[in-house]
Amino acid sequence: MMMQIELYFAPLEGVTDVWFRNIHARLFPNTCTRYFAPFFTPTKDNLLTQRDRFALSHENNHGCIPIPQIMGNDPELFLAAARELTAMGYDEVNLNLGCPSGTVVSKKRGAGFLSETDLLDSFFDTVFNDSLFSPPGVSARMRISVKTRLGMFSIDEFPDILAILNRYPIAELILHPRLRTEMYRGEIHSDMTAHTIQHTNHPLCCNGDLFSYADVLALQKQLPKMPHAFMLGRGAVANPNLFTEVRQALAGETVTPLTKNQLQQFSDAMLEDAKSRLSGERHVLFRMKELWSYWITLFEDADADRKRMKKATTLSEFCAATASLFARCPLSPNPTFSPDR
Ligand SMILES: Cc1cc2nc3c(=O)[nH]c(=O)nc-3n(C[C@H](O)[C@H](O)[C@H](O)COP(=O)(O)O)c2cc1C
Repeated sequence: MMMQIELYFAPLEGVTDVWFRNIHARLFPNTCTRYFAPFFTPTKDNLLTQRDRFALSHENNHGCIPIPQIMGNDPELFLAAARELTAMGYDEVNLNLGCPSGTVVSKKRGAGFLSETDLLDSFFDTVFNDSLFSPPGVSARMRISVKTRLGMFSIDEFPDILAILNRYPIAELILHPRLRTEMYRGEIHSDMTAHTIQHTNHPLCCNGDLFSYADVLALQKQLPKMPHAFMLGRGAVANPNLFTEVRQALAGETVTPLTKNQLQQFSDAMLEDAKSRLSGERHVLFRMKELWSYWITLFEDADADRKRMKKATTLSEFCAATASLFARCPLSPNPTFSPDR
């Protein structure tokens, strides 16, 4: 029997929030196996803000209960926040070791935690000695998965990082094979993904620049064995049908690409949602401009409408531009996100 591959929706802060997840799960149900929530940062005064609680509450995630993600380097705060999450019904939490943003890294969090290997080691030591995560397996109440980059400045940092991760009973390792300095641009180090799948003790999830089913098939070919999962981010924001396409391609079936009609329904639902809960046209416009920065890359001959969208200062100007785009421009034959368009 063929192994069922796991396909995850990556967390994108400010994009794949609770509202986005709900709409994706409603219009493209059961196409990805898990959603990962964008990170929250517990503090001593506030383990989870009201906003974090709302976004993670099971009752607000219909068909899209995510894996929550914690940003931080303090094991006690991590444990306290994880306890709160168990009370909310969660049995897994993800640790963010990848965020490249300057404000995060300067606090030695996210990718910044990767250059503090002693601190990282003692973080896991403390966490895995706590009864919440120990003993691992059936009796622990919670599991930890880790989402990591290769290091801060050089891929030579990665062997030490991987050696630490290998010492602990991590449930799954999600690898974005770039350095912090590379942010989200440039070639990914897919040779490092191949190296990691051979040398990790954990199930591996591959992330990074998987924008089309062809990208997934190409990566799969480079790997010595099938990973546990693929995680899709920007490509799936742009093409919400991508999980279906990847699943079909991996099964050797004919791929049914995204249609304009599907994208229109998705964008209409996002617009309705934004109008219903955001106060003021400016906020709605901002949300739609952000989402359209992904969707626009799927179209051919879209330069004129792209300019109109960018220039729009009112929602009606913006909607006129998107209506013109849908009427005028074809989707590319295999609609695929492009970071350069
Ligand atoms: C706008 C934006 C926000 C992101 N927010 C998060 C986040 O909250 N947590 C996280 O682990 N990764 C975050 N990421 C990284 C993505 O989860 C993913 O690793 C990255 O986009 C690479 O995958 P992709 O090439 O499929 O998009 C973010 C990326 C972007 C572009």
